[in-house]
Amino acid sequence: MENTAVLTCLQQNYFCFSGHSSSLPSRSFSNTTLSQPFSLKLQKQPALVSHYVLRAASPARGYATLSDTYSGTSELADIEWDNLGFGFLSTDYMYVMKCPQGGKFSNGELQCFGNIELSPSAGVLNYGQGLFEGLKAYRKEDGNILLFRPEENAMRMRMANRRWVPPTGKGSLYIRPLLMGSGAVLGLAPAPEYTFLIYVSPVGNYFKEGVAPINLIVEHELHRATPGGTGGVKTIGNYAANYSADACSEGTIGLLRPKAILTVLYLDCIHKRYLEEVSSCNIFVVKDKMIATPAIKGTILPGITRKSIIDVAQSQGFQVEERQVLVDELLDADEVFCTGTAVVVSPVGSVTYLGKRVSYGDGIGVVSQQLYSVLTKLQMGLIEDKMEWTVELR
Ligand code: COI
Repeated sequence: MENTAVLTCLQQNYFCFSGHSSSLPSRSFSNTTLSQPFSLKLQKQPALVSHYVLRAASPARGYATLSDTYSGTSELADIEWDNLGFGFLSTDYMYVMKCPQGGKFSNGELQCFGNIELSPSAGVLNYGQGLFEGLKAYRKEDGNILLFRPEENAMRMRMANRRWVPPTGKGSLYIRPLLMGSGAVLGLAPAPEYTFLIYVSPVGNYFKEGVAPINLIVEHELHRATPGGTGGVKTIGNYAANYSADACSEGTIGLLRPKAILTVLYLDCIHKRYLEEVSSCNIFVVKDKMIATPAIKGTILPGITRKSIIDVAQSQGFQVEERQVLVDELLDADEVFCTGTAVVVSPVGSVTYLGKRVSYGDGIGVVSQQLYSVLTKLQMGLIEDKMEWTVELR
């Protein structure tokens, strides 16, 4: 994908939406584009708990807040909030913006959620030209909604889907920005058109056991990424390879309880001795007061939760090392845990490597629990956000 197209899309700090939202179409108008988009600027406030104000680009309109624009959106959607998993639930709206060849992303629109039309020859379908992001919104006890570090995702969005943000304590709204080559290509070439799209889905725990430990299998033959490849970028293609490794592990391992969750831990493809990452998340190894995680060097995704946990751990007095972590270090670790937007902090109960299983106990470890607790309280607005990571929508 051309860098300029990606950067234009991911670095602009504005987005567009309808100025006539009090007459929003109902869901039965599926795929209807809302009328007359205009641009809004996100402004960070220099407050302790930072928040963005939506500023209309049109001087006639002045400032707009979400609540005065979408008056009926503060009620909750009618779903079973107690049974949220990490499956997809379709919500009300999605945001779509396109960029023609040689042009700029513009005229973004909020549309009713629905299928999108693509040429069979679209770059994303044929050559995997696609990037994605993932971030979460939590509902605070006062009803306001917190986004966690959206600028890290270079994200532009509008919370027309706020009724899908789960009630406090029941989960979060997972926000998925997608950038894809939507223009038709046949030869291997950048697509002549790109589409930027954001959809959302309310979610609960990624692993259905919640913060119960997951069991990892160290994969020593298949590799997630190679130096010089795209492992450090959130491309859609990086995740497809996981299906074969996850399936192999499930078929071959007989050491675990039948219902245990199996997730693959990848090693570096050159020495086959250093930890890389887990199929959907980063990994941390705890020994005494020291926490080690593989250094970002092109093959590992620079997770926003990874980065946040490093800062939180340091603020809690832990020594954090970003370096090469030997697979053998798992053998005498006190605790192992994974991090990611979807999984948040997930403790590891056991690691199986070349048929040998190391167990870290049945519950969440003390350090993992401490870090999980600080991070999630911060994300949910239960403690003061000294880091200024959250963005409050009003
Ligand atoms: C995330 O953690 O947000 C991801 O994008 C990982 C994905 C496999 C759910």
